[in-house]
Amino acid sequence: MTDVKRLHEKRTVWWQQDGAHGAVCMIDQSLLPGEVVILTLTHEQQVADAIARLQVRGAPAIGVTAALGMALAISRLRDEQGDTLAVEQAVAHLRNVGELLRGTRPTAVNLAWSVDRMIRHAQQAVRDGCSLPELAQGMQAEAQAIAGEDFEACLRMGEFGATLIADGDTLLTHCNTGWLATAGWGSALASIYVAHRSGKKLHIFVDETRPVLQGARLTAWELQQEGIPLTLITDSMAAHFMRYGGIKGVFVGADRIAANGDVANKIGTYGVAVLAQAHAIPFYVVAPRSTIDLSLASGERIPMEQRNPDEITSIRGIPIAPAGIHAANPAFDVTPGSYITAIVTDAGIARPPYNQSLRALCAGYHAVGTGNV
Ligand code: MRU
Repeated sequence: MTDVKRLHEKRTVWWQQDGAHGAVCMIDQSLLPGEVVILTLTHEQQVADAIARLQVRGAPAIGVTAALGMALAISRLRDEQGDTLAVEQAVAHLRNVGELLRGTRPTAVNLAWSVDRMIRHAQQAVRDGCSLPELAQGMQAEAQAIAGEDFEACLRMGEFGATLIADGDTLLTHCNTGWLATAGWGSALASIYVAHRSGKKLHIFVDETRPVLQGARLTAWELQQEGIPLTLITDSMAAHFMRYGGIKGVFVGADRIAANGDVANKIGTYGVAVLAQAHAIPFYVVAPRSTIDLSLASGERIPMEQRNPDEITSIRGIPIAPAGIHAANPAFDVTPGSYITAIVTDAGIARPPYNQSLRALCAGYHAVGTGNV
């Protein structure tokens, strides 16, 4: 087994303690690959804004960020109001912060899942008669636990996913699913990293991923740093290269997976899946169990984030379409489970019928779903 844990040291979001003051730090992904800028956020509103602006993005990474944001909310409250504040009031504030964070990006279930888990933790602390400093400490520890579990999940997904990759394979990926998108090594890209580190020769076609260009800006950057040969293509070239480029498999991540295996992921994923099926190319989804939402029977009920049409009509502030036209900008689409060859999770590989295989893999895993706590 590859010792990826020893090799992986990159981080996209983390907690920073400076004396009595806490902060959430992150790489500003909106500036990559041109500039590597670290943001130091000291207020939960800044954390919510950073998530909404895609300064941090990727389902697991925004889940971890939301958890750190809630820990920050309590730390900041203590800074401002001291430890005489009633614990119940602090928890009431946390509920509001949870709603603020939950509202930033509705599709990736990891975010709501993290918020729910942090609130459950706070409620338990109140039942246990914790003081405010103890609550603050507990919230930090819970956020770190969520990050740590995601790190571990990445290692396992990488190992499971790599078993589906052969020496010499040419693969295609969409969006960014690497260390920038998680608290660890990545999901779909973790499989590629593990396969590469174990000595398999690979070539990766990277969809640019319009309109925010996570493929061109982030995945190409990550693969280049890792020394994995890649070819960047526009999204519309995928069909051509599936026909003539020798692509042996598609690896993508997920933002939410319904009980029947329908997968919400970056806009364009559905098209790639249809193309893969048309060319008899296996289509793999790699995601941790925190992305699986068994409370939704199918993908039809997954809430879809609609982003500002400016992302379509301009590039970095430069207009590329006539002023005043209508443009649509759904951030995600849903790929029906019938197009998916297998779903690789941190607990193993699920194959159709997903209603049974996903439930079996999630048995005993803590509650999923976005139900309010
Ligand atoms: O809008 P983004 O950049 O947050 O979208 C990210 C994706 O769609 C990823 O494929 C998904 O979150 C999985 S990341 C491990």
